Amino acid sequence: QKFDFAMIGLGVMGRNLLYNMADNGFAVVGFNKSAEKLKALEEDATPGTKVKGVTSLQEMVDLLAVPRKIILLVPAGAPVDEVLGSLQPLLQKDDVIIDAGNSHYTDTIRRMKEQAEFGFHFMGMGVSGGEEGARRGPSIMPGGDRSAYENVAPVLKAIAAKADGEPCVDYMGKGAAGHYVKMVHNGIEYAIMQILAEVYDILKRGKQFTNAELHDIFAKWNQGDLQSFLMEITADVFLQKDDKGEGDLVDKILDVAGSKGTGKWTSQSAMDMSVAIPVIDAAVSMRNISSLKEERVAASKLYDTVDHVIPTDKAVLVQQVHDALYSSIIICYAQGLAMLQKASVELDMDIPLQDAVKVWRAGCIIRSSMLGVFYNVCNSNPGISNILLAPEIVELVKTKLAGLRSTVLSAAIAGIPVMGLSNALSYFDAFITERLPLNLTQSQRDFFGAHTYKRIDVEGVFHTQWFSSTAQ
Ligand code: 6PG
Repeated sequence: QKFDFAMIGLGVMGRNLLYNMADNGFAVVGFNKSAEKLKALEEDATPGTKVKGVTSLQEMVDLLAVPRKIILLVPAGAPVDEVLGSLQPLLQKDDVIIDAGNSHYTDTIRRMKEQAEFGFHFMGMGVSGGEEGARRGPSIMPGGDRSAYENVAPVLKAIAAKADGEPCVDYMGKGAAGHYVKMVHNGIEYAIMQILAEVYDILKRGKQFTNAELHDIFAKWNQGDLQSFLMEITADVFLQKDDKGEGDLVDKILDVAGSKGTGKWTSQSAMDMSVAIPVIDAAVSMRNISSLKEERVAASKLYDTVDHVIPTDKAVLVQQVHDALYSSIIICYAQGLAMLQKASVELDMDIPLQDAVKVWRAGCIIRSSMLGVFYNVCNSNPGISNILLAPEIVELVKTKLAGLRSTVLSAAIAGIPVMGLSNALSYFDAFITERLPLNLTQSQRDFFGAHTYKRIDVEGVFHTQWFSSTAQ
């Protein structure tokens, strides 16, 4: 009997995804150069499932049913091209190759063309959910070759997380749509994580809540309208004891955040398309500022003029912060979804927005009860450019804005940085402002560079010889 799928790259995600397929009744082959790793791969598989490890690509290819279906889960960048190069002489026309790593979407566009020239079907596929998700049910975002998608859809549906009984996988669109949707997912992930960190800072530094109290607050929020995976794990983080000494682990962790690039790519792509996603930008910037540890330590001694204490009553502050979180998280999604809507057209991907939201409802890192609401909004307002315009969202955000304003104000006075929350608020205020002061910007552009301007009262393009008080 031939095997259904092969996996190249048996790191945490690859191995768990392979076991997930095997548990769902598919016969799978894993490729790795180390025979020892392959032995462990076979031994740890669920008894009765069909998991085989091979050390040669030729053997892997020979074991697969035709057309072959091969998933790559190797680090983004050059490793993907290396694997594709090694596979090329071994495969036949119509074989399907799926890159399930976090590849940059421009690489995916290039690879789609290259692989099509060899007659292969290539798909870029986002997979979210970490180790647990990969094993028990991830959110899957495939895009690119449509016929290849139809071919592998049954297995993807079987292994994906389920939300209201529906599998969290669907076709995300043409070209690099799969990797693009995953990239924006990660941008939203960065933004929400940043906002959660700010709220933690406000409560801990501004009001001296203990970790045990923080656990209770986040756990309670997770029971209500803020229910989400990130809220749930944040609550758990505060319970973790330090295994190397006294106290809680979170207090011992260095305040320098790493990143693998997907948040930055989201900001870069948004800039290229002239889309504003300032909460995601803030999250990327804050990770960059976090790495300036030495400079921050030095500067803290030069400028430490405020006491970082928020005078607001504890219970009142917790409610304000709850509302700030609720409204700013909606604003994060609004920015990410508006970006997807623009990219769908600009990059000719035809992304069905409601399907992207649908597959994020379970399995992925940004899963949250809010996504059910956004899914309904996308279905009842097809083609909506920004979910903040949907009547259902207006009702939800309206009542929470006062909390966001108070939280940003309190943090500003106490000297607690809230770049994510304040960018969410400023974006929102700008978005709902009928007349922005950018008429002044246009005046200046025309003043120094004759860049012209439009008027509010007369059609056409104008230039003025501006009066200059310093001109001779
Ligand atoms: C997921 C995650 C994952 C991502 C990590 C690390 O959806 O499972 O988005 O794909 O790679 O969260 O990202 P950073 O190292 O950039 O924080």
